Amino acid sequence: MTADLLDWTNAGLADMDDAQYRARATELAQRLRDEVHTGKLPFLRMDYLSALLPELGRLEPWLRGFDHMLLLGIGGSALGARALQKAFAPGQDRPGHQGPWLWIADNVDPADLESYLAWLPAEKTVVVTVSKSGGTIETVGQYFILREWLRDRLGKAWKDHALLVTDATRGFLREEAANQGIRALPVPDNLGGRYSVLSAVGLVPALFLGMDCRALTEGAREVAAPLADMDLHGEALAAHPAFELAVWANALMYAGFDEMIFFTYIPPMAWFGDWFAQLWAESLGKRGKGSQPIPAVGVTDQHSVNQMFLDGPRNKACLFLTSPAQPRGPRFPNELPDAFGYVRGKDFGELIHAEGLGTRMALSASGVPLVELRLSRPDQRAAGKLIALLGAATLLTGWLMDINPVDQPAVELGKRLAKARLGADGLEKEKAELDAFLGAQRNEQEF
Ligand code: PA5
Repeated sequence: MTADLLDWTNAGLADMDDAQYRARATELAQRLRDEVHTGKLPFLRMDYLSALLPELGRLEPWLRGFDHMLLLGIGGSALGARALQKAFAPGQDRPGHQGPWLWIADNVDPADLESYLAWLPAEKTVVVTVSKSGGTIETVGQYFILREWLRDRLGKAWKDHALLVTDATRGFLREEAANQGIRALPVPDNLGGRYSVLSAVGLVPALFLGMDCRALTEGAREVAAPLADMDLHGEALAAHPAFELAVWANALMYAGFDEMIFFTYIPPMAWFGDWFAQLWAESLGKRGKGSQPIPAVGVTDQHSVNQMFLDGPRNKACLFLTSPAQPRGPRFPNELPDAFGYVRGKDFGELIHAEGLGTRMALSASGVPLVELRLSRPDQRAAGKLIALLGAATLLTGWLMDINPVDQPAVELGKRLAKARLGADGLEKEKAELDAFLGAQRNEQEF
């Protein structure tokens, strides 16, 4: 079996000053040992799985009794689930699908919510509310509306149509689980949203859609276990692909490459681009530093943003996701105009490989440092490996930047201002700021 590979050939390493980052392998190995030991990095240690996987096994028959799952969550509580759904249960977007159906409500979209309320059959629907903090208004707000909807339609049986995935001890949803007697699964301590897809957060919807949770988590373990090893030393860390990626990302930023394209040439895995973008951006955008993630999908975006990648500002690097083992698709007919004769008798799937190669070469020729992530098979085990690799690479990139990659303090201000606007108690400073902002002389133009 061929291996999953990182191809560094076109990474531009020869032109980069990465010694200062490589030199920190021993220090970071020590930090990994300390933080794994003190339970700060559950996404690497994954010890929570010993309780979770059997628990999921017990829940499976109940979950499978529903036709529809409506998942309420946002950010890290939704993006991983969607990436897995689109990659491994894409039927819902294709003709002829007979269920199951997973609906992910990860926005404040009144029209979407109205349509769920109007069309989902409550008796065949389970509402899964996912929030690590248990207090995110976009998610909890939808929960309040769905709770009433379930109650109205199902009476006392409504509780059997709800599942809460939240912190093990704290927050409103945890209290709700206890007060109402609703099924609940924990999100382990220190497992922030964007690092949590392989906990109940992503595994519950994955299970509902019939995915192999063991393959996903075993794949992740394969990559994460060496980093969670209590004997990890600098040399071993230095050779780990997650560290190599972190060194590369830092050397790139140092050299002025402050945008990171995530170009997926495995169409069903396109939504891993959105998942990666949140992981990279929320983790690394700190104190004026970071690199802006740009998800892109081959071949679609060759006809969209690729011109900018190729001939815009020279500030972009690229992670390029491919796999040689994709479906071949139907064969082009023999009867073709001469101008298209070059595809005669070939499989439709050959196009994506040829176009991926062309784009990869063109990016390299344009001076875009590029690492190819080549999956031998784009299956669930490989997805687990990819999730762990990119999570670990992001964490280590942040550590090398000397920022905290597991918090996101800057996003709090907007949330506080929105709450102040809605009249939440306290927040007097924010209310004063709102008055000043809204009271400012407007500079408006009709168009
Ligand atoms: O990655 C993160 O930590 C965030 O994007 C969260 O997932 C998001 O804000 C939702 O938070 P919660 O799960 O607490 O509702």
